[in-house]
Formats: sequence, structure tokens, C-alpha cells
Amino acid sequence: MTASGATPRPIGVFDSGLGGLTVLRALLDLLPGEPVVYFGDTGRFPYGSKPRDDVLKYSVEIADLLVHRYDAKMLVVACNSATAAGLEVLRAHADVPVVGVIEPGVRAAAKVTRSGRVGVIGTVGTIASGAYQRVARENGAGLELTCAACPGFVELVESGDIESDQVHVLAERLLAPVHEARVDTLVLGCTHYPLLARTISDVMGRDVVLVSSADETAFEVRAMLQPGVLPAGPDRAAVPAHTFLTSGDRDMFRTLGARFLGPEVETVTEWQW
Ligand code: DGL
Repeated sequence: MTASGATPRPIGVFDSGLGGLTVLRALLDLLPGEPVVYFGDTGRFPYGSKPRDDVLKYSVEIADLLVHRYDAKMLVVACNSATAAGLEVLRAHADVPVVGVIEPGVRAAAKVTRSGRVGVIGTVGTIASGAYQRVARENGAGLELTCAACPGFVELVESGDIESDQVHVLAERLLAPVHEARVDTLVLGCTHYPLLARTISDVMGRDVVLVSSADETAFEVRAMLQPGVLPAGPDRAAVPAHTFLTSGDRDMFRTLGARFLGPEVETVTEWQW
């Protein structure tokens, strides 16, 4: 309850599955007083290899669920593939503010690069969409982007394999284009990739700064919670109750969710479309 006695409206966060919990971690750390309702579309996972129209349709369905049924006051699209597929469509569709992860990722890279040569890795859908290149052009920081799709990375993370020889060999092959482009900054343009950071860093070399959009996305959300614009949650002394929804198996979500997020994943509700 807020000081006025009203139930605080949650921030709606969604992803194709569990990866968005890496973004949620940053959000909860920065805004500990905000209640969150998280939807992981594990029943229709993955998004990164699906046609854009399918990903867009799923995203609109989830946005409607979070806003109309769970009264979300804003939406965080904590999925690069969904952001790439149609952030603008979602913004036009939803009657609450919508934050994606691509603009924050590009901004974070622009802040740390010295040479301006920036690599971006992501799913096939994200890279093929050209969304990172478009946002970088619009950002006006003069970044020279080299993008590479990394099919297979997500599946390895989901299976819990983040440091084996197999991951290393695959990473050497898939990261070759960004390595050869001599980037000094690499955007982890997929919610799963922060869990592969050690292997990616081994392959890229210690001088290459790895950037994930999670922190920058959380800053963007905080900036939007302004009095008179969007009300912030109760003060941080109150521990808010979070809601976790999955379109797949509840037990699997809870077990793997704790790996991505931590102990906050308690009660998980299965959602049937
Ligand atoms: N969450 C997706 C992303 O950030 C990765 C998993 C998927 O392919 O759905 O692109």
C-alpha cells in the first residue's frame, strides 16, 4: 500500500522466457520499492529464431495481459528479439509507456567506447532486423557497428552449459566477425548472454568492454518514474510482492529463474492462453 492507501501499480516486464530476469535483476536492485509483474513466455520460447510477425503478435498479447489484467503502469520489453521485432508497434498499441532494451544498450556502448568501433551480438532475429544499426544511426554518436548473430548461445545457457569447451569453441567461431573488426566494446544484445560473459571475455580479450543493457534500462525506467508523470512505488523500506507468470512449466521456471534472478522467484503462476 502507498501512503495514500492505494495499492501500488506494478511495472510490467516480459521476455520470451527467463533471460529477461537479468534485466529484472538490475531493475529490482535500482528500484527496490517497485512491485513487478514478470511474464516469461517459456511456452513459446524462443523468439530469436521465429518470424517477426509471430514475435510481434506474442508481444502484443502479453502487453495487453500485463496492462489490462495486472494493471501495469508501464512496460519493460526485457527481450532484445521482441524489442527488435516491434518496439514502435507496442508503443503505439499500449496506453502506458514502453521501454525496450536496444536504445539503452546502444547508449551504454556509446558511453564507454573510445574508438567508436562497437560490436553487437544477438539472436538471428535481432541481428537480421537491423534494429541496433538503426538505433545507433539515430543516436548520432557516430558509432561504427559490427553485428553478429550467435545461434546456439541461448540454448547452451538454458541447458546450464556456460563454460565448457563446447561453448568456447562455438564462441570463437561466432565472435570472429566482431573480433576481427577490432571493436573495443561489445554489446551483449541478448538477455541470455550476460551469463556467458566469462567465455565471451576470454575470446574477445580483456581490453574489450562487455556492455549489457540491463543497468541502462533500469536507469531509463527510474527516469520515467517522476511525480506527475508516472507514480513511483512505495518507499524502499516496504518489500513489494512480485508476481511471476509463465506460459510454460511452473517448476522449471522456478528452478531456472532462481539461477537468473535469485531468491525473489517464489510463487510462479502458470498462464494458459
Ligand atoms: N530473450 C531473447 C533475447 O533477448 C533470447 C531468447 C530467445 O531467443 O527468445 O533476444
